[in-house]
Amino acid sequence: MPITVLLLSCLTAGAQEIISTKNTCMVLDAPEKEVPVILYYGVRLTAADAASLPASGAGSFAAYPSHNDSSESLEALSVRMPDGNLSADLRVSSVKKETWEGGEVLTVSCKDPLYPLEVDLKYKSYQDQDVISTWTEIRWNGAKKKPVVLTRFDSGCLPIRQGDVWVSSFGGSWAGEMPLFCQPLGPGVRSISNKDGVRNSQTAHAEVMISLDGKPQELYGRVIGAALCYSGNYDLRFETGDSRYESVHRFYAGIDPSNSNYTLMPGECFVTPELAFSWSSEGLSGVSRNFHRWGRRYKLAHGGEVNDILLNSWEGVYFDINEDGMHRMMKDIAEMGGELFVMDDGWFGDKYPRKDDHTSLGDWVVDRNKLPSGVEGLVAEARRNGIKFGIWIEPEMANTKSELYEAHPDWIINSPGREIVQGRGGTQVVLDLGNPEVQEHVFGVFDGIMTAWPGIAYIKWDANMSIPSQGSKYLKNQEHLYIEYHRGLEKVLDRIRAKYPDVAIQACASGGGRVNWGILPWFDEFWTSDNTDALQRVYIQWGTSYFFPAEAMAAHIGASPNHTTGREIPLKFRIDVAMSERLGLELQPSVMSQSERDRCKAAISDYKKIRDIVQLGDIYRIVSPYDGKGLATLLYATPSKDRAVFFWYKTEYFHNLLAPSSLLAGLDPDRNYRITELDPDGKALPFEGKVFSGRFLMENGLDIPAANSAPGPHRDFASHVLYLQAE
Ligand code: DGJ
Repeated sequence: MPITVLLLSCLTAGAQEIISTKNTCMVLDAPEKEVPVILYYGVRLTAADAASLPASGAGSFAAYPSHNDSSESLEALSVRMPDGNLSADLRVSSVKKETWEGGEVLTVSCKDPLYPLEVDLKYKSYQDQDVISTWTEIRWNGAKKKPVVLTRFDSGCLPIRQGDVWVSSFGGSWAGEMPLFCQPLGPGVRSISNKDGVRNSQTAHAEVMISLDGKPQELYGRVIGAALCYSGNYDLRFETGDSRYESVHRFYAGIDPSNSNYTLMPGECFVTPELAFSWSSEGLSGVSRNFHRWGRRYKLAHGGEVNDILLNSWEGVYFDINEDGMHRMMKDIAEMGGELFVMDDGWFGDKYPRKDDHTSLGDWVVDRNKLPSGVEGLVAEARRNGIKFGIWIEPEMANTKSELYEAHPDWIINSPGREIVQGRGGTQVVLDLGNPEVQEHVFGVFDGIMTAWPGIAYIKWDANMSIPSQGSKYLKNQEHLYIEYHRGLEKVLDRIRAKYPDVAIQACASGGGRVNWGILPWFDEFWTSDNTDALQRVYIQWGTSYFFPAEAMAAHIGASPNHTTGREIPLKFRIDVAMSERLGLELQPSVMSQSERDRCKAAISDYKKIRDIVQLGDIYRIVSPYDGKGLATLLYATPSKDRAVFFWYKTEYFHNLLAPSSLLAGLDPDRNYRITELDPDGKALPFEGKVFSGRFLMENGLDIPAANSAPGPHRDFASHVLYLQAE
C-alpha cells in the first residue's frame, strides 16, 4: 500500500533515533559511519528515559546484522560480491524521518565502505494501532553486468532482552490449521519456515507471539507480536547464545533463501516484505487487539465493513452442481435470512466437465449440461431471492486433463527433463506466474468472469497445490522462481483490485493455507479451515484469532456427523462456535428438519445484532481451550464498551467435576450491563435479563451450568452466547 508522505525532514546522521506509536517506541542508535543498533523496543519512553538506555547497562544489537559483524550472531543480510567476497559491512550514511497519515517512517541509510552496496533500513509506525513495522531496500550500484548475489535478505530483526521469554507459534496442516505451541526460549537457533511455494500458512505460520514475563497469558504480561507480511516462502529464526555476556535473544524474519538466492543487477533495488511488530502489556489478547485494529484499518480489503452471512455449496453438494440444486440452496439461505450464496467447485469445463478433482482446472467456461441457463441464470435467481451471488475459482492452477494444458503445456512449473509432479487428484499442476503471459491468463480468468456476469458480488479464490518441483520455462534464473511467482501474483491482484475494487474476494488455499498479512490486502476474508467440526474449530479459531480479526475469519455451520471428523455435535454448539467469527453455513439446508432451519434462521437474526461487535470489536480471549480446563471463553466488546458478546464453550464434560465461575474481561467496570442469552436452548440461565456491573462481571463472574441442558443423548457440548448491553 502506498505511503502518503506529508512532511519530509532530513536529520543529520548520528545518535539516538526514536520511532513511536501511541503507547510504544523503538530506539535505535545510528551514528554516521557506525553499524546501526537497536537499543530498545517496548512501552513508550520519554526522551530522557531513552537517553539513559546506554547507562542502564542494556546491550545493543546490530539493527541488520550482515556477514561482517564481529559478534557471533546469525546474519540478516549475506551476499556474494562479484569478486567472490562473502562479507557485507553496513555503515550509517544518513538518517531521515518522514511522516505519513498514520505515523512516521524512519529511514536509516547504510553503505558498504568497500562495495557499491546500499541498504535502507525502514521503520514505519502505525500510531493508533501500536504497530511498528520494518523492511529493507537493498540497492546494488555495481558495474554493468556484474551483479551481487543475495544469499540471505531478511526483512529485519529484533533483539529481545533475556529473561523468562516464551514463544507462541503455530503449526498447521489441512483441516488442522493454527494449532498453538508455547515454548520457553533456550540456547541455540530455532527456525520456523515454510517452503510450500503457494500455501504459506500450511505447516507453519509467519506470526509469533513473544511473552516476556514467563508462560504466555491472555490478559496480563508484556508481549511482542511479530508478523511477516509475505505470501511466499519464509524463515523466522530465534537465536539465543549460551554465553552469560549475551543480554538478548535475537529474532530474525524474512523470505526463505533456500533455492532462492537473489541475483541483484546493477541499478536494481530489492524491497523485502514488511515485518510488523506490536507490543502490549495486556497479554496475548492485547497484541491481538492491536493486530486486529491494524489489519482492519490498513491491510484487509474493505476492512472495517462487516462481511455477509453466506451459504457455501461445497459441503452441501461437493461437485454435484446442478441448476435446480443451486436454486434450492439460494431459496433456502434467503429464507433463513442469509445475504449471499456461493457456488463452489464443479461448475465449469466443456471438453472436460469438472466431475471430480481430476480434470478441468484452467477451463473456466460454464458446464451447460449442469447449468443450462448459465451463471447469468443463477445471478438472476439470486437477485430474485434478494441475495448476492458468488462463485469459486482456482485460477493459478491447471489440470493436465484440461484444454488449457493442451494449449499451453509450457505454462506449468516443472523441472526440465523430469516427470511432471502432479498434485490433487493426481493431475493438478501450478501455473508459472513469473511468466507475464500466465499473469495475463490469470487476470483474464477473473476479468472474464466479472465481465460475463457483472452481477457477481463475491469470488472464492482457491489454491490447492504447492510448487513441488522447481522449473520455469520462462525464467532464465531458476533461483528466482519462488520470488517471481509471488511478484506475478501481486501484479495480477493489483490489476484485479484496480478494476474491481468493490467485489468481495475470499482467500482459500486448501482451507486456511493462505492466512498471512502479505496476501490479505487484496482479500476481504479467508476460509479458516475445511474442517467445520465445531469442537476442533474452537481450537483452530482460537489460534487464528491471535493475529487475524473475526471480520476476516469465515466460520461456517457444518453438518453433523461432521464430514471431516465424523463427530456428532448438536446444532446449538455448531451455531455458537460459528457466531464467534464471520458466520456462514456449509451444509445442505434441504436435508435439515424444519426446527433446525428455524434455529439457524433465529441464529442469523441474532448474529445480525452482534455482527459489528464480533467482526469489528476488541477481542479478549479469557480461558484457553489449550489450558486443559475443558473450557474456552472469549469476549468481544465495542471500542466504547457499551456492548459486548461473551462466548462460553464446554469442550469436554465430566460428571461432578468443578466448574469454575467464568470471569469476563474487557468491560467498563463502572457501567452496568444487562445480559441476554442468544441462541438459547429453551432453559433460561439464572442471570437471564439481569443487570450486573462490569466490575462484578470481571471480578466475580458468572456461574454457568457445566452441562448441556438441551434434550439429547449426552451432556457434552454445552455452549452459551451472552449479549451484554450497557444501560
Ligand atoms: C478446497 C477448499 O478449501 C474447499 O472449501 C473447496 O473450495 C474445495 N477446495 C473445492 O475443490
